[in-house]
Amino acid sequence: MLAIIGGSGLTQLSNLNITRRQVVRTPYGEPSGALTFGTIEGREVVFLARHGYGHTIPPHEVNYRANIWALHAENALDVVSIASVGGIRADLVPGTLALPDQIIDYTHGRDQTFSDQTYRSVTHIDFTYPYSDAMRKRLHRAAATAGVPLVDGGTYAATQGPRLETAAEINRLERDGADMVGMTGMPEAALARELGLSYAAVAVVVNYAAGRGASAAGVRLEEINAVSQAAMARVRKVLDSLLILDAD
Ligand code: HPA
Repeated sequence: MLAIIGGSGLTQLSNLNITRRQVVRTPYGEPSGALTFGTIEGREVVFLARHGYGHTIPPHEVNYRANIWALHAENALDVVSIASVGGIRADLVPGTLALPDQIIDYTHGRDQTFSDQTYRSVTHIDFTYPYSDAMRKRLHRAAATAGVPLVDGGTYAATQGPRLETAAEINRLERDGADMVGMTGMPEAALARELGLSYAAVAVVVNYAAGRGASAAGVRLEEINAVSQAAMARVRKVLDSLLILDAD
């Protein structure tokens, strides 16, 4: 079964025919909300809003372990994460959808592994390529079939938040090789890998990163919403297309 983790701007899937909602308890506490099960295009899907259904949980307080554990416990094998980002690379302008292929993790103080007292069977994971190649290819094909432009590849910098970055921090991220910046990509991707889930992310560029382009004088938060809404309509098309292709 496919799991979709929705980020800011995607707290529900309007095209999901909901069959049930389920509160899942995990050894790591409660996920961000009840899991919503349903079908899209006749295929079973489970949806979780990363920040809670009322968007009340900030990036550094999301219980990433509980979220990934719950999806795994409910038999999700594939996970598509939808994540808003600021664009650093010049072509990643607001409204762009991108399929990152690398991550640099700048987060700290987050529970980032299942390898602790509760569950000791995993110690090290290979994370050379943090996203599932198979899942990325499926998303790429789905977007192409739906006629939705999707930039293939890019390095996602995961910052701690909840504040946005300084212009100097963005310059540093760029020197490090980052193309886009968001706050929720880690430890989510690593936890998914620990449990053997096939995980990829669709990054939605909702603003120029701090100090860049129209954010030269500052990031105008009030403009993010409109960009995000328009872009999420295209994300939904990609997800529909993914499920139709999976059904073939
Ligand atoms: N920085 C970090 N996270 C983000 C941004 C940003 O500019 N935009 C959306 N999420």
